[in-house]
Amino acid sequence: MNSKIPKEGRSFDEILSQLDSFAVDDPDYKNAKTWSLVYYLDEEYTQFLQKAYAKFFSANGLNPTAFHSLKRFEKEVIGFTAELFHVDEEACGVMTAGGTESCMLAVKTYRDRGRSKGINKPEMIVPETAHVAWGKGAEYFGVKIRRAPLSKDYRVDVKAVEKLVNKNTVMILGGAPEYPHGMIDPIEELAQIAQKHGIPMHVDACVGGYILPFMEACKIELPIWDFRVPGVTSISADIHKYGFAAKGASCIIYRSIEYFKHQVYVEHDWPGGVFASPALLGTRPGGAYAAAWAAIQANGMDGYTELARRTINAVNRIKEGIAQIPELEIIGKPLASLISYRSKDSDVNIFAVGDVMQSKGWHIDRLQHPDALHAMVTAAHEKVVDLYIDDLKNSVAYVKEHPELASQGEAATYGMIAHIPLKGMVRKTVLDMFANSYKLSAKEIDLSDSAALSPGGGEGEEAEGSKKGIVDKAIAWYVKKSAAKQK
Ligand SMILES: Cc1ncc(COP(=O)(O)O)c(C=O)c1O
Repeated sequence: MNSKIPKEGRSFDEILSQLDSFAVDDPDYKNAKTWSLVYYLDEEYTQFLQKAYAKFFSANGLNPTAFHSLKRFEKEVIGFTAELFHVDEEACGVMTAGGTESCMLAVKTYRDRGRSKGINKPEMIVPETAHVAWGKGAEYFGVKIRRAPLSKDYRVDVKAVEKLVNKNTVMILGGAPEYPHGMIDPIEELAQIAQKHGIPMHVDACVGGYILPFMEACKIELPIWDFRVPGVTSISADIHKYGFAAKGASCIIYRSIEYFKHQVYVEHDWPGGVFASPALLGTRPGGAYAAAWAAIQANGMDGYTELARRTINAVNRIKEGIAQIPELEIIGKPLASLISYRSKDSDVNIFAVGDVMQSKGWHIDRLQHPDALHAMVTAAHEKVVDLYIDDLKNSVAYVKEHPELASQGEAATYGMIAHIPLKGMVRKTVLDMFANSYKLSAKEIDLSDSAALSPGGGEGEEAEGSKKGIVDKAIAWYVKKSAAKQK
């Protein structure tokens, strides 16, 4: 790695072509081989977004009274989204840099609303499947997170949620849909509990916000999950996901200012001037807001409806394809664009299937509890469904013939993390490994090397002898266990 700033500046052309060369090993999203992270339609659309972004590249949304253009984009994007979610003009909200910022803001808002009502030990109730952004928000803002288990259908267990309610509960969460299995939580029932106890309720529609309303327009039957449900007080939705905007565009909308005012930070005494900020960031990227506005204008209701139709067509074909592979099954009954599938054959390790698929160029996320593979399907995947299902069939057959793959490569690492009975130790070890990967001298994390998880096996300095011994033993235990299972 060359981390020295060049003494003399280099030519733009040279730099730009070098940037292209850096991307050669990145996931192949342009050919729709990536099942998360990227929402890409085609080059023409992407260049259009880039132009919109570039026009406001330097504009800063930090001070809403400076760039009137940005305030207008924000207001209109929030207005369009509020209309999609069936809320009236009393609603208010902000654009954020992404789903995580939107979710974290909800935690901060409801914590502070709780404080204003005398709750000093705030707690929030979330489904086990709530996105990690919620755990992060809880940790950052000092709110105790209470995770409610799932029912057999993989939606949150409503009775378990109600049991967790107490005088310190500042918010309840439901997902529409949640990330791991793509299930829409029972929003109406959760909201009834929230209303009964006078607790605010947030719906995480970071994924669903820009596809569920358009699925409804396609006459696909869905439960009601938005502001039509009394008791839902806020919703987060990412325009940089199914809204096909440039990265850096999400939003959070509140039913009323009564909630939103707890999100706003004000400092009236600062020598730098009176300061008011509606979200987490200071400088806010004008380009992302302009591109989000442009994406909505370019697609329109009809364009998004057509994208939703194509997406669900791809999802249904994938579901049918997986149903034809006897060793696999879809988890739950996901209604929207996210699905996960697992092995129901003890001879087929699903993480090994993931490794074989990866060797064929697919980028697929791995899940745990239960072990599974994941797909966040978009309209762009329509054209690769047959190839994907063929590769999946062949990968399953290959893993069945080669059971040793379960204790090799990334399969061994994911399997070990998911099954090792020393959760605290794994957490600490992953933390060390991840933090160390940010050292300037570090190599890239290699998930196919499970020994890297062992303290001292990676780049860690903290190779405490006894801890290393325990983790090494746990790794050996897992590898032996999965090898024994294959016999
Ligand atoms: C349900 C849900 N909420 C929040 C997020 C966080 O979004 P971001 O990655 O934009 O921060 C995600 C991301 O996939 C998600 O699936």
